[in-house]
Amino acid sequence: MDTRLQSHFLGIPFKSPLVLASGIVDISYSSMLKCIELGAGAVTTKSLTKIKRKGHEGPVLAEFEGGFLNSMGLSNPGIEDGIKEVEEFKTRTDAPVILSIFATSAESFLELIHFTNESKADAVELNLSCPNVGDEFGLPLAASEKAVGEIVSAVAPVSRLPLIAKLSPNTYNVAAIGKAAINAGAQALTLVNTLGPGMLIDIHARRPVFPGKFGGVSGPALKPIALKYIYETSQLLHCPIIGTGGVTTGEDAIQFLMAGAGVIGVGTSVYYRGIDVFTKINEEIIDYMDKHSLNSISEITLAGE
Ligand code: DHB
Repeated sequence: MDTRLQSHFLGIPFKSPLVLASGIVDISYSSMLKCIELGAGAVTTKSLTKIKRKGHEGPVLAEFEGGFLNSMGLSNPGIEDGIKEVEEFKTRTDAPVILSIFATSAESFLELIHFTNESKADAVELNLSCPNVGDEFGLPLAASEKAVGEIVSAVAPVSRLPLIAKLSPNTYNVAAIGKAAINAGAQALTLVNTLGPGMLIDIHARRPVFPGKFGGVSGPALKPIALKYIYETSQLLHCPIIGTGGVTTGEDAIQFLMAGAGVIGVGTSVYYRGIDVFTKINEEIIDYMDKHSLNSISEITLAGE
């Protein structure tokens, strides 16, 4: 890998600034390892819950002109089995792994932290923003500064690993919610989770495409919204940010770095460009760096900033 792609995030060295976003590949160590071999600097696991979840009945993924709609329903093998895959991953690579966890209260997050503390992961991403299980769990926590502050402040003193709060784009005050997370003890933010939820209809069947009707919107339609929240939040907080949302090309990744992301989440573009999207985006970033005579990722900034 070109050494000009090296990045540091939370003091951890990344060989490239690209991070596999949560929920794109399965939890197996081999799928996550493949992403590293193909140029990801780090991986994020699927969101793990205390107890295994089957997820929603299919279809759970549908394409539309602006991106994809998904409603996986938090399918995962449960935290204990998920962590075993992380251990397998870590015996084969020193690449960083971010363990994503999902719960709905401070108490249930704390139960998961006891497991993450014992794991070989490098950081924990608190998924406070899954839009797809509102029928079971109510509004995502990331809709409320108070809820985010309460959860993070309960978890932060107990967590051995750095905490990254993953926030939703579905509020007008993402930067203020980010501030609540950072003030409560999160070391970084992932901005942003999927938008919506939205809905698609199969006009021939005359039914919603998804049995559960709704799903989170990802892909190119999300990009300008993600970019705006990353910019606004980084201007306010100057904190480490994993910028995620519709990054498909090197040009997108560069825009995210310029907006203030430290590293970049790559998710839906795996569906467009294949699992080697990491190699392709890395090459496109390097082409840009060559053209502009830049020697390191940290030099990719807005003019005058
Ligand atoms: C799911 C979707 C999300 O956007 C998320 O953050 C976590 C889980 C899902 O449907 O599984």
